[in-house]
Amino acid sequence: MLNNIIGPLKLPELLQFDNGTKINTEDEWLNRRREILNMLSEKVYGFPPEDPIAISSMVSEVNKDAYAGKVIEEHMILSAQLENTIFPFPVKFFLPKHVENPMVIVYIAFRDGVPDRYLPIEEITDEGFAVATFCYNDVAFDGEDNYVGGLAGILKGRGERKENATGKIMMWAWAASRVMDYLMTRNDIDHDNIAVMGHSRLGKTALVAAAYDERFAFCFPNNSGCTGDAITREKEGERVEHITKTFPYWFCPNYRKYAGKEHEMPFDQHFLVAAIAPRFVAAGTAVEDTWADPNSQYLSYVAADEVYKLLGKDGFIHPDRLPKIGDTLHEGTLGFHLRSGRHFHSRYDWIKYMEFMKRHRI
Ligand code: GCU
Repeated sequence: MLNNIIGPLKLPELLQFDNGTKINTEDEWLNRRREILNMLSEKVYGFPPEDPIAISSMVSEVNKDAYAGKVIEEHMILSAQLENTIFPFPVKFFLPKHVENPMVIVYIAFRDGVPDRYLPIEEITDEGFAVATFCYNDVAFDGEDNYVGGLAGILKGRGERKENATGKIMMWAWAASRVMDYLMTRNDIDHDNIAVMGHSRLGKTALVAAAYDERFAFCFPNNSGCTGDAITREKEGERVEHITKTFPYWFCPNYRKYAGKEHEMPFDQHFLVAAIAPRFVAAGTAVEDTWADPNSQYLSYVAADEVYKLLGKDGFIHPDRLPKIGDTLHEGTLGFHLRSGRHFHSRYDWIKYMEFMKRHRI
């Protein structure tokens, strides 16, 4: 059944180089992955900013007995030393006391305040996870500001905005990697099991962060939809023309060329998911979120599966049908759940992601 849905979409091939050569081995896939990331930078998200020369943290506040005494809470400023300047941004870290060496979730947040309706810290730390979180607006403002502030200001100051210039999603993803740099300097957490997570535009960002940074062992894109995990061809709801009109600054200028011309794209969003292989990705979707389009989201995982299989992983274990409310497909390396309700980062989603991470801990 799914073949009949995917076939007519004529998706660009994952296991074939741009020059048409087929990919049969893991080594060939590694080259193909580089080609894919380059293509996604050039045509969708813009190129990642440079890696920092060094990263440092300055703790401004510590509460050793937060959340009824169960959690150590630290507020800090992370500073990335770049070639000619320093980029600082605030990060909050929560460490549960009742577990040793906890797994960590890097949460890219809409808002500064913690806890937040999308980020129920106490429930997460009670489950034994540490959390590191930052607010995306503290990295680059989510609005049309002509790239004057934050990281956007630093990059813009380096010249004209080119057709493949860094979009803000890529900037937020870069910041998640700086949090990863910092986490690698701590010796009280599980370095092998660090996830990146975000909702909606920040779910798109989580996918980009994990695709470009192999240190993230897990990625949890919640309701990420258009230009996140939803196949763009024949997608319902939001399309390239909508997203590039309302949020042009999320992407490089090249992306808008595909508005109304999705069939000309030499990629689709299964490329972004496959670039994370062989690592874990589990998505959350909501049945009323037709703007994101859960069926098209599902198809990305179905289509990315062949790369996981090539790499010897289980990939996406799923029935031969579209998803139903209540589905939790968590057996494989790729996971997916579809819940009732609307676009939201709900407790239900959190429970699913934490279950997935515990089940597949490396
Ligand atoms: C808008 C946008 C979506 C995005 C969402 C969000 O609806 O069109 O692409 O995912 O905002 O970030 O909440």
